[in-house]
Amino acid sequence: MNSPRLLQLHRDSDGAAEAAAGLLLPRAAVPPKFFYDAQGSALFDAITELAEYYPTRTEAGIFAEHGAAIADAVLARTGAAPVIVDLGADNCAKGAALFARLSPQRYVAVDISAEHLAASLAKLQREHPALDLVGVGLDFAARLELPAGLAGPRPLVFYAGSSIGNFDPSAALELLRQARTLAGDGALLIGVDLVKETEVLEAAYDDALGVTAAFNLNLLRHLNTLLGADFDLHQWRHVAHFDRAASRVEMHLEASQTCLVRWRGGQRAFAAGERIHTENSYKWTPRGFTALLREAGFAEPRHWTDARGWFALFVTDA
Ligand SMILES: C[S@@+](CC[C@H](N)C(=O)[O-])C[C@H]1O[C@@H](n2cnc3c(N)ncnc32)[C@H](O)[C@@H]1O
Repeated sequence: MNSPRLLQLHRDSDGAAEAAAGLLLPRAAVPPKFFYDAQGSALFDAITELAEYYPTRTEAGIFAEHGAAIADAVLARTGAAPVIVDLGADNCAKGAALFARLSPQRYVAVDISAEHLAASLAKLQREHPALDLVGVGLDFAARLELPAGLAGPRPLVFYAGSSIGNFDPSAALELLRQARTLAGDGALLIGVDLVKETEVLEAAYDDALGVTAAFNLNLLRHLNTLLGADFDLHQWRHVAHFDRAASRVEMHLEASQTCLVRWRGGQRAFAAGERIHTENSYKWTPRGFTALLREAGFAEPRHWTDARGWFALFVTDA
C-alpha cells in the first residue's frame, strides 16, 4: 500500500499578521480562510449534511445526472488517467467521487487546513491503496502555485462547492488566471452557486440547528489560538444576510456588548452592535460566470445545472 505524501507549504502562523491587520481595519474583517482549523473543517463537514445547505446535495445531483457527459468533456481535454488537483479538498469526498469515471494517475489534494487534510488522505489511501496521493498544505489565496511537475502538463483542476464565491469578482478573476496557468493544457471543473430567492440563501447560511453559527464563532476560537487573543465567544453572535445588489451572502460576527479584545501585539475595543465581517459568498448567473472564465483566459466554458437552476458545474479547457 502507498502512503500519502504531504507537502507543507503553509504554516498556521503565516496568517497571524494578516488576521491581526483585519481586526484593526475601521470595519473589522477577517477572511474566511481563518474558519478552517481542524475544528472549523469538521464543522464545515457537518454543515454539508444540513437540510438547509443545498449546495453540496445539488452539486452531487448534477454529477449524478450528467456525470458521464462531464467526464467526457474533462477527458477530451486532459486525456486518459489525468492528475486531479483538488483545490480546497477538505475531506476529499468530492475528489474521490470522480475516481470511478476519471481513473486518475495521481490525486493532489490542496487545502489550508493541513491537519484535517492529512487525516482525510490517510483514510482515502486505505480505500485506494495503489493510488498516488499527495496532500499540499497551501494558502492559495496568497498564491496558487504547486511544486514543479506535481500536476503534470494536462491536469484536471477541480474547485468544488462554489468556494470561488468567497472571492470578490476581481480576486476571483486573479485566482482563475492562476488556475488557468496551473491547468496547463488540461481542464478546469468548477462548481458555482447561482443567484436565487433570498429565503433559500439566508437559511443556508443561518440554519435552525446553529451549526453555521458555531462554524462562524469558531473563527474567534481559532484567532484565540493563532494570535493569543482573548475573545469571549459568549459576547458574539452570528449574523448572515443576502445583499442582492452586491449578489453576495455576507456573514458577520456581532458584539452583543462592549468589549475589549487583546492579542499578542495588539488590542481593539468593540462597541455593542459592532461587527467583524467574516465571509462573502458571491452568487453568480451562468452568463456572468461564463464571462469571468473567458476573461481569465478559458476559451470554451460549458456548464450543467440542476432542474431548479440553483447551482452550476462548469468545465472549460485551459
Ligand atoms: C467551503 S469548503 C469546501 C470544501 C469542499 N471542496 C466542498 O466542496 O465541499 C472550503 C475548503 O477550502 C479550504 N480553503 C479555504 N480557503 C483556502 C485557502 N485560501 N487556501 C487553501 N484552502 C482553502 C478550506 O479549508 C475548506 O476545506
